[in-house]
Amino acid sequence: MTSTATSTAGYQPEQVWLPASEQLLEWDEGFHDLLLGDEVRMTAFRTAIAEAVRPGMTVLDLGTGTGILALWALQAGAKRVYGIDLNASVLQTATERVVAAGYGERFSPIHGVSFDVSLPERVDLVVSEIMGNLADNEGFVAILADVRQRLLADGGLMVPSRVESYLVPVAAEQAHEQVSRGDPVDAGGPVPFAERLRRRGARSPFDLYYDVIIPVCTYLATPRVARLYNFAAPDCIPPAAAAYRVPLAYTACRDGILTGFKGYFVATLSDTVALDISGDDIAGRATSDSWKHCYLPIAEPVPVRRGDRIGLTFSRSCPDEATGVFRQSYQWEGQVISQGTPVARFTQSTAEASQDVLGPVKQRSVLTNETS
Ligand SMILES: C[S@@+](CC[C@H](N)C(=O)[O-])C[C@H]1O[C@@H](n2cnc3c(N)ncnc32)[C@H](O)[C@@H]1O
Repeated sequence: MTSTATSTAGYQPEQVWLPASEQLLEWDEGFHDLLLGDEVRMTAFRTAIAEAVRPGMTVLDLGTGTGILALWALQAGAKRVYGIDLNASVLQTATERVVAAGYGERFSPIHGVSFDVSLPERVDLVVSEIMGNLADNEGFVAILADVRQRLLADGGLMVPSRVESYLVPVAAEQAHEQVSRGDPVDAGGPVPFAERLRRRGARSPFDLYYDVIIPVCTYLATPRVARLYNFAAPDCIPPAAAAYRVPLAYTACRDGILTGFKGYFVATLSDTVALDISGDDIAGRATSDSWKHCYLPIAEPVPVRRGDRIGLTFSRSCPDEATGVFRQSYQWEGQVISQGTPVARFTQSTAEASQDVLGPVKQRSVLTNETS
């Protein structure tokens, strides 16, 4: 998710925003309005839910927020929808929405973090929209693995059923320049941004990822799948899947200045609906207002020539089991090889970010106390 404060396309290509996924515990009504105004997101989920829900099904809307997915499931004939959310205020909005639409009797709002929630029955379908722009930067692997194991009936379905994340080397020079200036749109200027970085213990502004629309014309190679999560298979998401180290190899398809990597996801929501956030046509409304792309910058841009090889090792780790669900560290390191000779290396990491950066870290136990 990203932090643009308007639901219309009030943003530009390569404009740099702070990573909203890292602030998910502080999302307010304005942020939920942004989600509700995101046509790409809304159309995909509305269509998929109408396709996946059969009359009489029981449904869990995990992270129900303002209840829009729950409402669509009820309209499609669900006999009961459980809506879980850790945010009491948005859960109240969800209840009001569903009651106003005449479905209050069949909606069970549950306040809490999903790990702490039990249901009176296993459900036929779990719908959720808890993906970040890198797919797993809002902790969805551990959350959905737990829900699938404890709350989904045998043979039950998940929406989304499958999610892939992609990484591609890019020449995003404007975005890089904005990061270098320490001036993300929503950081309050270079001085407050520098203070955020200092509190975070970040080595530089390049040791953070950003939310940026990165045009396809900046690609220096063909995107590669970094992770694939197949929620349709029972053993698809072992707990260890949340931490990984993935080597990815690229061959440059043109000359350009490598400034970093673009990350994005494609989610299969139903048999006929794929939600692909890689689009860059802002004027044509083909971009998602609430997910921009993930930009993983490198500190020193590297000129590359067509045919050069770019090696990237991308890692995710959860520094602390208690906070790891909502906080993680990413590392992106690698090298450029030109005519058989390594010409540059890069190493960036958000490792310190998990401790205290863009908002207070809340342990799950603290969260539970606050929200119960
Ligand atoms: C991106 S919003 C989506 C809200 C709504 N489903 C929609 O589509 O508009 C994700 C919501 O999930 C909630 N959430 C995320 N992880 C959760 C968890 N493990 N347990 C409970 N709520 C969670 C957040 O508080 C937030 O309201």
